[in-house]
Amino acid sequence: MRRAAARRKDAFFAKIEVQGLALTYADVRLKTGYSETSPADAALESKFSRRVPLKIPIVSAPMDRVTEYKMAIELAKHGGLGIIHTGLLPEKQAAFVTRVKLYLNAVIEKPICVKEGDSIGDIEKMREEQGWGFHSFPVVKDDGTLAGVLSGSDFEFCTDRSRKAAAVMTRTPVTAPAGTNLKAAFGIMLKRKKKFLPLVDKKGKLTGVYVFSDAKRVLLGGEESSRYNVDKEGHLRVGAAIGVGEGELARAELLASRGVDVLVLDTAHGDTPRALKMLKELKKRFPKTDVVAGNVSEGESAKRLADAGADGVKVGQGPGSICTTRIVAGIGCPQVTAVHNSEKALRGYGIPLCADGGIRYAGDIPVALGAGADSVMAGMLFAGTDEAPGEKVLVNGITYKDYRGMGSLGAMQQSRASRERYRQARPGKASYFPEGVEGLVPYRGAVGGVLLQLAEGLRRGMGYVGAKDIDELHAKADFHRLSEGAAEESHPHDVTITHEMPNYGTFQKEGI
Ligand code: XMP
Repeated sequence: MRRAAARRKDAFFAKIEVQGLALTYADVRLKTGYSETSPADAALESKFSRRVPLKIPIVSAPMDRVTEYKMAIELAKHGGLGIIHTGLLPEKQAAFVTRVKLYLNAVIEKPICVKEGDSIGDIEKMREEQGWGFHSFPVVKDDGTLAGVLSGSDFEFCTDRSRKAAAVMTRTPVTAPAGTNLKAAFGIMLKRKKKFLPLVDKKGKLTGVYVFSDAKRVLLGGEESSRYNVDKEGHLRVGAAIGVGEGELARAELLASRGVDVLVLDTAHGDTPRALKMLKELKKRFPKTDVVAGNVSEGESAKRLADAGADGVKVGQGPGSICTTRIVAGIGCPQVTAVHNSEKALRGYGIPLCADGGIRYAGDIPVALGAGADSVMAGMLFAGTDEAPGEKVLVNGITYKDYRGMGSLGAMQQSRASRERYRQARPGKASYFPEGVEGLVPYRGAVGGVLLQLAEGLRRGMGYVGAKDIDELHAKADFHRLSEGAAEESHPHDVTITHEMPNYGTFQKEGI
């Protein structure tokens, strides 16, 4: 991925550096060029980490108002990736990983089973605690043979929660022989009108189950399912964040055991002995799981993470919409320069770079990738969608959703992970030092609509540059530096906007 050759843009950035300047998205635009690439043909495949590919190079941020399982499912269904945040107890975060992983299960080889003696109330409690989104369970005996099936209606029509599964279940459910393939199973479920099909071997032992909605989605998903970002077993891909504090190795172990595709070692400053030690330990203990480490904003720091074994590096210190780090701590490199310098430092390593934070418009994505990123991570763009966990708020008749920095007062008071991210891990400390704010973003409906606009913006940018894929965008990208007048010219001007466009909200420029 990272070829060592110099790129066109190197001369541009060298000239900027000589002036002692650093640039961000609003300061630059890509140069257009002769193009044989029509936007529709631009290939958006990229990588988040060494072994985790992306069909669109867009990742949702591990923030408590952005990514839980609903967001992660939608991101992966659109070809991107969601990173589940750490502000959750490890068991809950792992349960969310499981929910994403089980979402597309055509055949569930190790289904979650219950025993004949389990009460309906106990099963419901387990369901709640583990975050299982389904209502059907095979009931098995101690020797693994199938005793019956509990369905959603069994739970619904059972008025006494102390009744045992054996008393409520269907005792002679429709089954299929072990090894039945997806198409055949789908046919049986259609014919018998069953939403759940256990597979049993000759001895009556349960070997797996099919779920109708999953089988239908996989078989009839058509064009939509070809977009999904799935692993080798056909499960949606998902990432999860971890910190550097105590107990985080145990969290990582739990997440790895649930098949998380990538762990994101998420700290406000990734270039510290503690973070580097944690990274090395993670790589030693979980060699099969990729680890993306961050955040950094200088080339030397990116290189140190690569040398410590990172499978991907996350760049961004202070560009985020909710960040105040640059203002209250006085540090940080503007994002486009940070991305370029990190990319240069990583040439020859073969590990992807993610540009994290500060993406305001679709057009910032081709700029980030042109500067050298392999993917972008965003919070603000997704926080206003249905899939984000934040609350809807009505202000003067307009709907917003709440969004906050992980270093904001509210997030740090609520979660140890947030305190640790900002190295303020002393519980009970009276005064925190916030590095983020709490606020509102306009409600934007389903995240799918936002993602389509963002991906299209990237395709359009590539069409103008003449890049047929991301590698070519890296190689061909060159920039114009914008003057203040040029930046003003780039936005709509001299008109009163009467209609909000799905890819241009005036709030991004002027605030709510
Ligand atoms: P956007 O611009 O997409 O940025 O909303 C999301 C990214 O911002 C980072 N982040 C923070 N940075 N203080 C910071 O300085 C904070 O409180 C904070 N919370 C999140 C993070 O990298 C995220 O992906």
